[in-house]
Formats: sequence, C-alpha cells, structure tokens
Amino acid sequence: LTDLLFQGLYALHTFYVESVRPSPVLLILTTILGLVFTALLWAQIEQRVLADPHAPPVVPYLFPFFGSMITFGLDPIKFFRENQARYGDCYTFLVFGRRMTMCLGPDGNNFFFNAKLSHVSAEEAYKTLTVPVFGKGVVYDVHNSVLMEQKRFMKNSLTNDSLRAYVPMIEEETSQYIQRWEGETGTIEVVQSMAELVTLTAARTLFGAEIRAQLDERVADLYHDLDNGFTPINFLFENLPLESYRRRDAAHIELKAIYMDILSKREDLGNEDRVDIISHLMNCTYKNGEALSHNEIASIMIALLMAGQHTSSATTAWALMFLAERPQLADELREEQIRELGGLDVPLSFEVLKRLPHLDNLVTEVLRLRPPIIEIIRKVVKPVEYPGSQYVIPTGHYLMSSPAVTQTDPSIYRDPQNFNPARWFADAKKESAASIGTAADEVDYGFGVLRTTSARSPYLPFGAGRHRCIGEPFAYLQIKTILATLVRDFDFKLTSRGMPAPDYTKMFILPQTPAEVIYTRREAKA
Ligand code: HEM
Repeated sequence: LTDLLFQGLYALHTFYVESVRPSPVLLILTTILGLVFTALLWAQIEQRVLADPHAPPVVPYLFPFFGSMITFGLDPIKFFRENQARYGDCYTFLVFGRRMTMCLGPDGNNFFFNAKLSHVSAEEAYKTLTVPVFGKGVVYDVHNSVLMEQKRFMKNSLTNDSLRAYVPMIEEETSQYIQRWEGETGTIEVVQSMAELVTLTAARTLFGAEIRAQLDERVADLYHDLDNGFTPINFLFENLPLESYRRRDAAHIELKAIYMDILSKREDLGNEDRVDIISHLMNCTYKNGEALSHNEIASIMIALLMAGQHTSSATTAWALMFLAERPQLADELREEQIRELGGLDVPLSFEVLKRLPHLDNLVTEVLRLRPPIIEIIRKVVKPVEYPGSQYVIPTGHYLMSSPAVTQTDPSIYRDPQNFNPARWFADAKKESAASIGTAADEVDYGFGVLRTTSARSPYLPFGAGRHRCIGEPFAYLQIKTILATLVRDFDFKLTSRGMPAPDYTKMFILPQTPAEVIYTRREAKA
C-alpha cells in the first residue's frame, strides 16, 4: 500500500514537472502542499487501515512521526488526564515516531512497575540516553540482575551511620553557601541557586573530598557538559553531529579519568575514615566473588550524580518557591524547631531531623504536587496483555507511567492542586509506598525487600518495583537539612513575577526560569 501510494505520487509529480512546467515559486509551493497532503493522508491510513485491532486505542493525530508532540509537550499532565477521561487508563499516543502506551491509575502503576522482565525492559528504554553519560558496564548497559547487585551496593552505602555523618556537612556547606547572599535583603534565582547548593552538598557527602575540592574548577564545567547531554533529545537520538553531543562525550571521558585517578590514589594511600560512596564501593564484591572494577565504580559515581542531582535540586527549588509563596509555612517550620529543639541555634543532626514532622511533610507534599520525574518509561520486548482489558500491547511500544497523575487525582486527594503539607497529618497517606500489603507480598529483587502491592499506591514519586529509587533516604536528609538551615536565617517572599509554572521542556520538572524569591536576613529584620 505504501509503495503504491508513493509510486502514484511520484507519477503525479513527474507529470506535473514535465508537462505543466510551472514557475519555481509555484513548484516549491505545490511541492510543499503535496508533501503536507501526503503526510495527512498517510496519518489517516496509519490510524484507520493499518491499526492493530488488539492494541490499545490511539490518541488521534494529524501528522505521522510527530503525532501528539505539541499537545503532549505543552502540558503532559493535562494531556494524560484528558485522554484518560476519553480512553481510560491504557491508551497509546505517537510522539517522534515512538508509540507510547500510558498505564495510569493505581492499577496502571501496579501493572507498569511489576511487569515481567521478559515483557518489558527499562534498559531498552533508557540506554540511548544513559550509556554515553554513565559509561559502559553499569546500570542500563548490563543485564538487569547485575544492575540489581549494583543497586544493592549503592543502597548499602547509604547506611544510617553515613547519613548521620552527612547532616553536619550539609549544614556547614549550606551556611557557607548562603554567605554569598549579600546585604540584608536581595533577590536570588532559585533554580540556579538550589542546583549549586545541592551539587555542593552532594559532592561533600557522597562523591568524596577530592571531587568537592575540584568543584569550583574543572568538575563543575564537566558536570555542566554532561548535563547538556542528558536531555529529551538525547533520549530520542543516541548520537547526532552536534556540539552538545561532542562535549558530552569529552566530559564523560575526562570525569571518568578524574575518578580513576582518585581510585588509584586511594588504593595506594588507603581509604580509611571516609564515609563517602567511593570508599564503600571499593569494598564491594558481586555474588560471584568479583570485586567492582575501578571502571565500574567511576561509572556508578557518574550515574549517581545524574540520578540524584536534578531530582533533589528540583524538589528543593519547588520547596523554596512554596515557602516564599506562603511565608506562614516557614514560620511553622521555625516554630517547630524552637518547640522540638529548644531554639534555632541547635546544630542539626540525623536524630534532630526525625523530630520535625512539619518539615518532613513539606517535602512529601512537594513530591506529591511537583514530582521531578513525571514520565517513567519501559520498552515492550514481547507483546503484553494489559490486565482487565482486551488490549495486547505490541513489541516496540514504550510503556509510560506517570504517578504525577494519581498524585493529583481529585478522587484520591482532597483539593489536589492545593499545596497543603498538613494533609499528611490528616490523611496519614505516608503508609502508601512502604506498608500497604502483607508479608506474603514481600519481594527482594536483589537490593532490599519491597512490597509488590506498594506499586498500587497512588503516591509514587520514587517509583516502585525493581527499578525503585535507592536514594530516597539521602534525598530527604539533604533537602530537609538545606531547608531547615535556610529558614533559620532568612524570610522569603515571591517577587512580582509570582509563582512560576512547571517547565515541561526538561527531563526533570523544574520551575520555569527566572524563578525568583526575595530573601531578608532574619537577624537584620529583628
Ligand atoms: C530510581 C525519583 C533521588 C538514585 C528512581 C526512580 C524514580 C526516582 C521515580 C524510578 C525510575 C524508574 O523506575 O525508571 C527520585 C526522586 C529523588 C531521587 C524524586 C529526589 C527527590 C535520588 C538520589 C539518588 C538516586 C539522591 C542517589 C544518591 C536512584 C537510582 C535509581 C533511582 C540508583 C534506580 C534506577 C533503576 O533501578 O533503574 N529515582 N530519585 N535517586 N534513583 Fe532516584
């Protein structure tokens, strides 16, 4: 059919050019019109004639390849919700030639996160984006069973003892950083400031003193170049002849070399008294008795940097915007510290943070309303039935889950668009990810026990199942320490620009920039 269509069009084109001989302008115009017409026609044929009768319904589109690019790209959450109302929890849309099949609602989350490895693959979905940045031999470049072991190493490096050691370091880094904010009052751009602060605190704690020491120099530039190679376009195309791709590859090689150098020096000089992840990974061995190689450790360090940086900095940035929008929340956080700790000058610690539920709820609420990851993806490698329906999702489709949709579902959360940390006292929904289910539901994919039923939870900012986040305890600790330190010293309010909307053009959902707040030093105010 395709051949016939194109042969017909070619014959028409030849007849037109040979016989009619129009002016060049007319020729260009009519050729464009012809192409548009062919595209429109082809899109209809794809949807009406070639459609797989067993596959989920497809969101109608006008142009092939681009599909629903514009409506999806402008506001993905709105797009997901509107089409969920039309087609239910499972439907497909086309974007950049990829067929994305949504799995929405608690049942969709459950299907997506507990899907069998033989049917769906995270590796196939993410490797185009991640392998050039992280490197080979780790994460999505290895068999899933190896990833599970690597996740166990990462998770076990975040022990309570190391987290305990991190809190004073994060507090100190934050206090030093805010000395840059000059005068009694001023304006900061929150997205950039929180990205810097999160990088500094993560480097100081997780990535090793050597990386922290070089952060003001070369490493920050390398990180920037890697970051520019970790965007939606890199997800679509692994390699393009663009400067950003070249810089990504060069940055990967140089950062890897820096880590390899740190590792050999530590091997020669010893690794004692360190609480960072490198020191832990240097002592890890796979089940088969093999130690992690330096190459693997260096790549895992880069992977952790990319996994933790944007997620935590987006969450901290949104938290600060909400505190500036509602200064009474910052008052509450200060009152809580005074009530629980006896003052605003008591050093923060792992134990102290546990006594601040208002602070904890604030972070939980930010992750409900503004989760940094709104699209989690897998690739179908073998046709898979969508439970409770007639649909069979074909090989080659991408599955997509968006817990952000259930997290703002009015049938689950009262007044879901309202930022209200107190809901977590009232609704007691924190049970969601961890504790629904019974012991019979327990599963260990290789990095710790999870409950299979937890994937049915409506609240999943850290995902679920075998790919669930292992960074949650560190992320909470880091974000809470930063916020607790900031509210001690400053009042914040929004500028006349107001509250920014989410920026959906990025991989991680940050506030649209410039996202500004006005700070006022509290001692100056007093
Ligand atoms: C996985 C969110 C912080 C390391 C994930 C996933 C989500 C997520 C949704 C699941 C991805 C999937 O299923 O495809 C978050 C959020 C964070 C955060 C919201 C902060 C607020 C961190 C930090 C680290 C980290 C700080 C490391 C120190 C990882 C790793 C995975 C993961 C290693 C596993 C990927 C896999 O198994 O495929 N995270 N994350 N995350 N995250 Fe996080």
